[in-house]
Amino acid sequence: MENFEEQVRQALANPQNQGELADADAVGTVGSPECGDMLRMWLKFSEKNGQRVIDRASFQAFGCQTAIAVASMATELLRGKTLEEAKSLNAEALAGGLGPLPPMKIHCGQLVEGALKNALDQGQPPAPQLNSAPTLAAAIHRPLQGAIRVVKLDQE
Ligand code: FES
Repeated sequence: MENFEEQVRQALANPQNQGELADADAVGTVGSPECGDMLRMWLKFSEKNGQRVIDRASFQAFGCQTAIAVASMATELLRGKTLEEAKSLNAEALAGGLGPLPPMKIHCGQLVEGALKNALDQGQPPAPQLNSAPTLAAAIHRPLQGAIRVVKLDQE
């Protein structure tokens, strides 16, 4: 079995679902005060057997390689999940085939989990103050209001 670093390398070689989902129903944005990384996740819902399910998910990250690899895995894993099923997924579950996250990398998975939960909490339409910026880069360069703590990437 390949180790965690190798799994991350493979995920980064062909990351899935990167970029804005233009017709998304929900958007979640979080930043880590620990490392300054940021991640935004878009969700598009559809109806399946009378239940609302995640049709598509995408992400944009200013984050480390682990966060990008987990987000890539998670956005694939989320396809077809009901909102309740998606809410129950923690960082380890979202990391899917990457295997258990090393202790130093757990917060990277939690960044993905946080963006997902933020998107699920917001429902539709997304909250304007947090998510009206068209891209994550635009969001960083405008003042955010609300409860989410954001550390600007140009600060050391
Ligand atoms: Fe911060 Fe990975 S080091 S998200």
